[in-house]
Amino acid sequence: MSTEPTACAAASTRSSPIDQILRRSEALLRTLLETEAALPGGTQRDPQRLAEQLPLSLAEHGHSLDEVFERMACVLAATPSSASWRFVNQLFGGREPLALAAETLALWRNVSMYTFKAAGAQVLVENEVLSRMLGHAGFPAGEGMFTPGGSLANMAAMLLARDRADPSQRDQGASGRFAVYASEEAHYSLKKNAGFIGLGRRALRAVPVDRQGRMDPLHLAEMIKADRQQGLRPLMVVATAGSTVRGAFDAIDELAAIARPEGAWLHVDAALGGSVLLSPAQRHLLQGVKLADSISWNPHKMMGVPLQCSVLLLAQRGALARSLDECADYLFQADEDRLNPGHRSLQCGRRVDAFKLWATWQHLGDVGWAERVDRQFALATRAAELIDADPELALVEAPMSINVCFEVKGCPTEPLCERLDQQGSLKIGYGSVFGRPVLRLVCVNPELTESHLLALLEAIKAAAAPLRAAC
Ligand SMILES: Cc1ncc(COP(=O)(O)O)c(C=O)c1O
Repeated sequence: MSTEPTACAAASTRSSPIDQILRRSEALLRTLLETEAALPGGTQRDPQRLAEQLPLSLAEHGHSLDEVFERMACVLAATPSSASWRFVNQLFGGREPLALAAETLALWRNVSMYTFKAAGAQVLVENEVLSRMLGHAGFPAGEGMFTPGGSLANMAAMLLARDRADPSQRDQGASGRFAVYASEEAHYSLKKNAGFIGLGRRALRAVPVDRQGRMDPLHLAEMIKADRQQGLRPLMVVATAGSTVRGAFDAIDELAAIARPEGAWLHVDAALGGSVLLSPAQRHLLQGVKLADSISWNPHKMMGVPLQCSVLLLAQRGALARSLDECADYLFQADEDRLNPGHRSLQCGRRVDAFKLWATWQHLGDVGWAERVDRQFALATRAAELIDADPELALVEAPMSINVCFEVKGCPTEPLCERLDQQGSLKIGYGSVFGRPVLRLVCVNPELTESHLLALLEAIKAAAAPLRAAC
């Protein structure tokens, strides 16, 4: 397989890591562009032999940048280019170079499109594009949303149609026979999804937590018993591994002991905390995870891989196809089902999200990921120490992972966050702990240093001063 290693290795090793990566990327991109017209994806069509030829395996120890770029070159050489004139296979193809540049540039900002506070001007851009598209559609008074593909846009439309026809469906669900249990500090998506898929939001039970924010197994057992008496079936127990505000980890093994005999599906929402599995020092937080039926794990959180990169892992094969497989003879024409992920995905068209994770893993190895996770934990511990030692600040609790919750003494938290955002000095959010709003510092960026932490705390105290005086 041709890899053009010289082009990839041409970059200087004396510049900053980002410069080195950019130069290697440009060299690799130029090589790919020069060769892409020839063949859509190389000559090897036997997946077994291709897997043997490619340097795919991920290892405990990482490789140098040169080595990783050579490996990426090999994989990309065996990846079809939909911009090749020979690629007339799908409903996409060709390329708008400017769109690619914009995608790449926006990735360096790596923001999430849920709030203006997080995404800034990108929200205005989205609004502008939607309004232009609404105009073309003849919907001047309409609204819209971006979706990860047309399949999910169709799904959302079906949901909207259902809720217009029968508004009670979102809360009551179609059958009203099932119950789903998650801690009262679980992520809001669970409730939203219960409405979405037809269980009804009322199916979601908010199980009380203990002082550390972990679901209380005794309450869980009692709630299941009470629901059984009402004729409801416990469909699913969701353990949260890394709760959104406090970074708390439910005791998965204790919840499994209750869920299993009930025949309930045990899911671990490790969107935040799944990456802890990579750290020998911290993976005990997910003890019992192998008893679960499924795990959500977001590499776009603690692993720092740009949005979006999010995975659902299943303990047994077959469940994905059981729920998601459909026939489509215009699409699934070649290769066995095993090699066609479209049989097992929510979307039809789907972005390449794994390559960036794979490439970073090649470089860091398991050991590099563990160091990253451990640095995040160490930062959170240090931040908590600094807060605790500061007479103006109050640490709410010792951090359970990388989220540090605290208050400025005598200062209301919500206006403080608002003020910091308005000033443009820093972005920090708040969440509710023990019934009151507290600041949440998330130590997810391992590049933060102690002096950054001190500067953050100083900025917070400076913004709090006038608010404290006014109280
Ligand atoms: C515990 C938990 N689950 C799920 C999610 C949702 O993840 P995403 O933002 O990737 O949809 C989050 C996001 O913060 C989370 O904290």
